[in-house]
Amino acid sequence: MNILGIETSCDETAAAVVRDGREVLSNVVYTQIPLHQPYGGVVPEIASRAHVEKISEVVRAALAGFAAVAPEGRVDAVAVTYGPGLSPALIVGLNAAKGLALSLDVPLIGVNHIEAHLHTPFLGDRTAGSIESRMPALGLAISGGHTAWFDMPEYGRYETIGQTLDDAAGEAFDKAAKLLGLGYPGGPLIDKIAKKYFTALASAEGARQSNLIPFPKGSPREGVSALAGLPADLCVSFSGLKTALLRYVQKTPDLDVPRVVASYQEAIVQAVTDRTRRALERRDYRSIVLGGGVSLNSRLRTALAELAQKAGVELLTAEPKFCGDNAAMIAGLAYYRRNLVGDDAMALDVAPSLEIG
Ligand code: KG4
Ligand code: ZN
Repeated sequence: MNILGIETSCDETAAAVVRDGREVLSNVVYTQIPLHQPYGGVVPEIASRAHVEKISEVVRAALAGFAAVAPEGRVDAVAVTYGPGLSPALIVGLNAAKGLALSLDVPLIGVNHIEAHLHTPFLGDRTAGSIESRMPALGLAISGGHTAWFDMPEYGRYETIGQTLDDAAGEAFDKAAKLLGLGYPGGPLIDKIAKKYFTALASAEGARQSNLIPFPKGSPREGVSALAGLPADLCVSFSGLKTALLRYVQKTPDLDVPRVVASYQEAIVQAVTDRTRRALERRDYRSIVLGGGVSLNSRLRTALAELAQKAGVELLTAEPKFCGDNAAMIAGLAYYRRNLVGDDAMALDVAPSLEIG
């Protein structure tokens, strides 16, 4: 079964065709990053307009790629992100998907963007074998908009067990980079600078720690209402970290930017790794399913790989091209969500605050 996926929830206009949920036949992503760069963040109106301008070209390119590898193939369904995301951006993709589903006379499948990030390790050749054999899994979706841990007893069932109470990890990276005048998006820039800094230091863990500025490690206070019933030891809060960075910058005359950046990244990596370790202690999992743009962070990958090895679970990560926003994850997940197709699919509306589960 070939599914055409469409994704426009934030600042990437994307379309892809995926066969039977895992084999990516074409994957086209147009990124708007240069358009948002001058503002240091995504501007919804600019995003929406750019999606309108690019969507047909991107879909056409994805269909051409599909035709090139599967000349006899036909599209059996159209899948689209309907939330969470920016409302004016989501609307563009949803309307395009409705038009395509009508004209191709195939079903329309609405997909949750976060859930789709958690499907990315199963795309392509990276993770061979059955998905079910990896369950129960601990899901970690970590991106510019979300940071959350999920209990996945079986594929397609999710219970949120921890999350950020304020900024997502990617947002914390982006805001720090903005404050330090490094550019946008901050995550990849900070990753690179920190890597250089650590390479220059002695590689021993002791040397790494002792040279770092002790920024707060994202622990929320017990009993704060934002926890909404979730255990504090599985949640993170990055607002204190951001304030600590600002104070440090204000009171330090000769700023050693690489050291500041490496220390800030380490605080985020340790916060995320620590919560993941606690989640692994609560239940016997077979794997960690990792998805989202921040999962590209090289230091986070190393830390989670070490943790997984110690805990005896498999760390499932996506190929780099599937970590950031893309439509292959939408088309892939939709194969497992065909039960959501109803007669009223054409009435589907965007859900900017859509939750998972
Ligand atoms: O998944 P994604 O493309 O979009 C959302 O759904 O949010 O994630 C984008 C986020 C940005 O905040 C970006 O700074 C961050 O992922 N990011 C990284 C790295 N590459 C991208 N953060 C840390 N290290 C990286 N190497
Ligand atoms: Zn995303």
